[in-house]
Amino acid sequence: MLLKGKVAIVTGATGGLGKAIIHKLCKEGARVIGIYRSQSLSAEKLQAVLAESGFEVSFYKGSVYDEVFVANTVNKIIEKYNRIDILVNNAGITRDAFLPQMASKDWKDVFETNFEGAYICTREVLPHMLKREFGRVINIISISGIIGKEAQTNYCASKGAVIGLTRLLSRKYSQKGIYFNAIAPGLIETDMIDHLPDNKRTGIINSTNLKRVGKAEEVAGAVLFLSSSLSDYCNNTILTIDGGMLR
Ligand SMILES: NC(=O)c1ccc[n+]([C@@H]2O[C@H](COP(=O)([O-])OP(=O)(O)OC[C@H]3O[C@@H](n4cnc5c(N)ncnc54)[C@H](OP(=O)(O)O)[C@@H]3O)[C@@H](O)[C@H]2O)c1
Repeated sequence: MLLKGKVAIVTGATGGLGKAIIHKLCKEGARVIGIYRSQSLSAEKLQAVLAESGFEVSFYKGSVYDEVFVANTVNKIIEKYNRIDILVNNAGITRDAFLPQMASKDWKDVFETNFEGAYICTREVLPHMLKREFGRVINIISISGIIGKEAQTNYCASKGAVIGLTRLLSRKYSQKGIYFNAIAPGLIETDMIDHLPDNKRTGIINSTNLKRVGKAEEVAGAVLFLSSSLSDYCNNTILTIDGGMLR
């Protein structure tokens, strides 16, 4: 088991990617804490399924950009386990519009969850990783944050900001045993892409080498890689999981 004894926090735990990541880390022996914003029923169901398989997992409901909630949650995790080895900043939302049509609130909401959430969770976890001189932080960004995608103005900018954070923190903390890497998924089959009209979906699929959408498990595999000793020489990496996006 690649993660035996490790303690991992996964944000966005009730979403398509979050659930797959939690399954994957549990199966490799990690004790996992999931953070989600609203879907309590989904969290309860996931906990029941995982507990039945003998996995140790708990969930906390709150927002990743709520500083008090995040600090309290991290304190509870430290009280229980006295360590945090892995942080997966996965919570994310979209509110797509071209810049002239973008409502300020939508701009702010997306930045609060996608960027400030990652920054606040990292800030609260970092001192505990520094104490043990070990940590793996994996930021889930998006191919949109690298290449830019039509109408995803706030989303692309927020994910681009997380790339900057990943690069800066990896430079600062790699010598202390804390590695920062990011994963940039392309189009992955989850609730997040439910609203996409068929023609847009087909357009994106056609712009990949593999001519299909990705599966959440395929992203979860990359998270496992970057969480474990398999990636001990990976630092400041932006790993694209996008079926070979051509544009
Ligand atoms: N699916 C894709 O095609 C795709 C592609 C590239 C990148 N990504 C990125 O992958 C990540 C996961 O996406 P997904 O497809 O799994 O999305 P999803 O199914 O829509 O799930 C989003 C998750 O984030 C949680 N969340 C949203 N705002 C939050 C907040 N303020 N605080 C705490 N949790 C919050 C949601 O919680 P509740 O539902 O409980 O409110 C849910 O668990 C996101 O960062 C997304 O940008 C996805």
